[in-house]
This record gives sequence, C-alpha cells and structure tokens, in this order.
Amino acid sequence: MDSTTKDPVYVADRLIAEDIDAYLHQHQHKTMLRFITCGSVDDGKSTLIGRLLYDSKMIFEDQLASLERDSKSVGTQAGEIDFALLVDGLAAEREQGITIDVAYRFFATDKRKFIVADTPGHEQYTRNMVTGASTADLAVILIDARQGVLTQTRRHSYLVHLLGIRNIVLAINKMDLVGYSEDRFHEIVRDYTQFARQIGMEAFLPIPISGLKGDNIVSLSPAMPWYQGPALLAHLEEAPVNTSRMQDGAFRMPVQWVNRPNLDFRGFAGQVGSGAVRPGDAIRVLPSGKTTTVKSIASFDGDLPLAVAGQSITLTFADEVDCSRGDVITAADAPCEVADQFEATLIWMAEAEMLPGRPYLLKIGTQTVTATVTEPKYEVNVNTLDHLAAKTLGLNAIGVVNLSTDRPIPFESYQANPDLGGFILIDRMTNATVAAGLIHFALRRSQNIHWQALDINREAHAAQKTQKPAVVWFTGLSGSGKSTIANLVEKKLHAMGKHTFLLDGDNVRHGLNRDLGFTDADRVENIRRVGEVAKLMTDAGLIVLTAFISPFRAERRMVRELMVEGEFMEVFVDTPLEVAEARDVKGLYRKARAGQLKNFTGIDSPYEVPEAPELTVNTVQMTAEEAAERIVQAILSR
Ligand code: ADX
Repeated sequence: MDSTTKDPVYVADRLIAEDIDAYLHQHQHKTMLRFITCGSVDDGKSTLIGRLLYDSKMIFEDQLASLERDSKSVGTQAGEIDFALLVDGLAAEREQGITIDVAYRFFATDKRKFIVADTPGHEQYTRNMVTGASTADLAVILIDARQGVLTQTRRHSYLVHLLGIRNIVLAINKMDLVGYSEDRFHEIVRDYTQFARQIGMEAFLPIPISGLKGDNIVSLSPAMPWYQGPALLAHLEEAPVNTSRMQDGAFRMPVQWVNRPNLDFRGFAGQVGSGAVRPGDAIRVLPSGKTTTVKSIASFDGDLPLAVAGQSITLTFADEVDCSRGDVITAADAPCEVADQFEATLIWMAEAEMLPGRPYLLKIGTQTVTATVTEPKYEVNVNTLDHLAAKTLGLNAIGVVNLSTDRPIPFESYQANPDLGGFILIDRMTNATVAAGLIHFALRRSQNIHWQALDINREAHAAQKTQKPAVVWFTGLSGSGKSTIANLVEKKLHAMGKHTFLLDGDNVRHGLNRDLGFTDADRVENIRRVGEVAKLMTDAGLIVLTAFISPFRAERRMVRELMVEGEFMEVFVDTPLEVAEARDVKGLYRKARAGQLKNFTGIDSPYEVPEAPELTVNTVQMTAEEAAERIVQAILSR
C-alpha cells in the first residue's frame, strides 16, 4: 500500500526528507496565529476545523496516529484516512474530551503556524469559549446559513468583543445548503452588521463557506463567483498577530515567585506583562508603593541589558525592598492603580448561581485574594443588549457588579491591560472556576473611605469589662436547639458577671434583616450582616452568642475569617433531621412536608455539616443544660 501520496501528513514528511534544515528554519520563523472558532450548536465547527487541518495538509503525527487507531477500529485500513473520517475522529475526541475546557489543535501552512481553540462538548456553556478567547488573536464566528444570526451567535460575538479580540471573521457556513445564494449571504451580513454596530464592533470580515465541501476555505470557490474577498485560510495567513500589543505601555511585571537561593541573592521572577525594563531603571513595588532601582536582569540566557513584554526574567533590586508573590513591579513614575473595590463585568460560568455576599477566590495576575460581589447592577440581555435588573447571575449570564477584595490589589482596566484587568472567580469549596471578570475601574469610595483609628479601641473596651471578647457561633438545623442552648449559655455567663449579647435568627429577622427571606442568596446576606454585627460587638468587648441555622460552610468560614484570631468558636448543635422534625416546635417541618413552605432547611434546602467545629453538642445524648455547661467551660478555658 502506498500511502505516501495520499495521506496529508506525508506531504510534510517529504518536505522534511528533502531539506530538513531549510524546512526547520522556515518552520521556526513562521509567525503563530491563535484563533478561536465559536458560534451556535450544529454550525459545523468540527467540519470546519477538520477541513482546515485536512486541506492545510499539515496534520501533526500524533493526531494522525490516534486517528489511524480510530480508523482501524471502524474497519478501515491505516493510511486510508479520508476527510469524513478525520471529522468523525475530531468529533469523537470532543465527546471523550467533554471534561476538558478547550482542546487546542495545531496546524501549519507554508506561511504560518496556527493554534485553534476548539471547544469540546456542551457548546451551550460560555466557559470554554471564554477560556479559548482569552489568548486568541482572531475569532471565527460560525453561522449556519440556514439559521442566520442566533442568540448564541450574539452571545459569543459579545464576549469575543468584550474580551478584546478585534479581528473577527464571520464565517457563513453551509452555503451549499442554501444553493450558494448571494442574497442569503447579504441578508445575514446585514443582520449581523446591525448587532455588531450595537456592541461597538468596528469591523468584521464576512466569508461565505462550506466546511463540508471546502468552498472558500483554502481557495476561492467557483460555486460563488459573486464573492470577491479572500478565502478563509488566506485571511488567516495574513491577519495581524497581537505580539506587539503590550510592547508599548509602561513597565509592569507581576511577581511569580521570589528567588532566594542564598542570603546574597534575592531575585523577583516573573514575565514582563508590558513595556520594557533596563538595569538602573527606577521601579515601584505595588501595592506597597516602595521604590528602588533595578540592579540586574537575570534570565536563562544570562544577564540582560533590556527585557521586554513576554520575556521571563528575574529582577534584582539595588535596595532591600519588600516584594512578594502577587505584587506588581512597575515603572516608578508610571505605577498602576491600587484599590480594593471595583466595578467589573462578570461572565457567570457555573450551574450554581452567583451569591452576592459570598466570598469567592479572585485570581488576578499572579495573585489570589478573597472577593465578594454585590448584587448585580444589571444583567445584559445579549439579544437586545438591554440592561435588566437582576438579583443574581445564572449560568452564561453577563452582568455588571461591584466587588470588593479583602486587601488592596494593583490593577488596570481590562481595556488598558488584560493581564492586570482580567480575573477569574473560583468557588472556595469546590475549587471550580465560576466566572470570568473584567475590571472597569476602582470605585471612588474605596479610595476615599479610610479606616478611622479610634482612641477607645477594642482593647480598651475589653479591658473595662475584664473579659476576652468572643463570638460563639451556634449552627444547626431549625429546631435543633440552638436558641435554647444559647439562651442557657448566656444566662450562665451573665450570672458570672460577663458582658454578653445573644443574636438570634428569628429576632434579627424581625429588624435588621427583615428584608431577607430564605433563598440561598438571602441566607448568605443574612449571615454576612450578622457576622459584621457580631464583629462590631466584639470590638465593643462583648461575648457574642449567635443562633442561626447558617447552613453553608462558605459563610461560616467567612465569619470565622472576619473575627480576630482565637475569638471565634463554632458550636455545631448536632441534632438529626428526624429528631428535629419529630420535635417540630414551630410546626414548620409539617408545613414544609406539606409543600406549604418552600426552601426549608433539611427538606428542600441544604444544610452543610461543619467539618471542623470547635465544639459539637449532640442533643440526643445530652440535655440542653449539659450542653450549655460544656460550652461555658469551653468559653472560659480559652
Ligand atoms: S439562616 O439559614 O439564614 O441562617 P435563620 O437562622 O436566620 O436561617 O432563620 C431560621 C429560622 O427561620 C428557623 O428557625 C425557622 O423558625 C424560620 N424559618 C422560616 N422559614 C424557613 C425556611 N424556609 N428554612 C429555614 N428556616 C425557616
């Protein structure tokens, strides 16, 4: 069997065999274009990517090997890879890769190398798209010529534009199925132009194609003589690559790690995000704002006289200046801003909806901080671009929110610098990425509200009461006995002359929190407020007892982190659901079972059992009195 003439990969092989040096030289000096394909379901993405790989005659060997394996298993002989099989293979890979965010496929032509971000499986998720788009120079937005512009087309176009991709190809696919109609092509272009204008997209290149038939992919199609533009691959070969984007601009380098092999050397390693740096340059470390000058620039190639955007280097300083992972080194006279409250766009990518007030991890540059999000200012309807009022953001929603971080971070707007203005939010319990975000600007209040140092501080308050402040946080199901036990504990402490205060769920919900119900979002806000109030009360020197179901680990952890170290004590009132339900002191379980009370904890709303409470009291094994006695002992023996 002579497969060398037939099989695409061997074309490259032959080139290599003829003149390996020339080939390698040419190959290494090609520019690389990164692009993403996106659009709606069934728009023919696999076919298009298959077509590009196939027709560019440069499938990499490992890809081919795996395809050959597949082809054997369906009874075809190795080497007889045809186009349909290639597409099937890619599709099968996507199915298997359903858990991968993005598959990156490589191919090359004589002129250029390409990486295309292929988004496997569940196209309804924006997550894959956002991941793929974040590093792309160009986006190919696919449209099924029969369907025209769909919601998903709009969503993806909006995101691609939002993420700063300015080179857009509108590939109107399946032209063969609309009889290569010029009218249909223009109709879709008109529709899309209208939408593009609304989102501020200045330009896009429409190309009528058929991925299946290969029309206008590599060469211009005789079936559409009316089309005057370039074929898709020709355009991809010519499109500008974003390498120079960050070369201008002031020097910025997020610190990845501190290199301290011995006492004489202290270097700060990272990748130059923008601008350039030379030994002797004055620099500033943010957020601290300390300044010094660059002593040397170390790299794999030895010391450098100059480093520019994209290079990985280690800087040493002329003076001992504090600098650690997550800090940003900037030009001294052109620092970026530092703030802890922002307005930002969020692209929500998780099934679980956003919970305003819940702490998430925020990863920006090389650092990770804790952040909470307020209720969205608005959500964007991607079809109409209307701003909708929203309490939360669900899967795929795009909204504008305010967020605050637990400490000031150096940043720039995403528009000015995607490296320092783009971030992701991570769920602290599951470690899943739940959102991508783009910073707009710092809220002015974050710069204008400063912590006021008070003369009568928390130590003074506590000293006068001759006690150590504390928060004793009871958590457990409704009817578990939290209020009863907390009440007994308070009586005992009071009798000993301690200054206490009991915050009880049912009571606080009559006043401060009377605007809150029992949705997840409201429970998060309930606990956030109670946490802040309890914190203030410890500042006043009190021993605070709180009795709230507080069903979520995330918020219990949040209040724990709010308090001074050693002043927080989580008490799990461990009463099995059956027992609490049998007691049913307020008759609420009966109502919930009858379907008259929605979102009832333990019935149709979750309770997350504490993982490491300071104390657990089991109300089946001991009386409320015994439990209270134990808790008092624990408080006193701190
Ligand atoms: S929490 O979940 O936000 O911490 P919280 O402790 O303030 O709840 O309030 C719980 C009390 O509200 C319960 O003891 C019960 O009396 C009452 N309640 C009314 N509806 C619900 C509900 N759907 N789920 C739980 N408790 C409810």
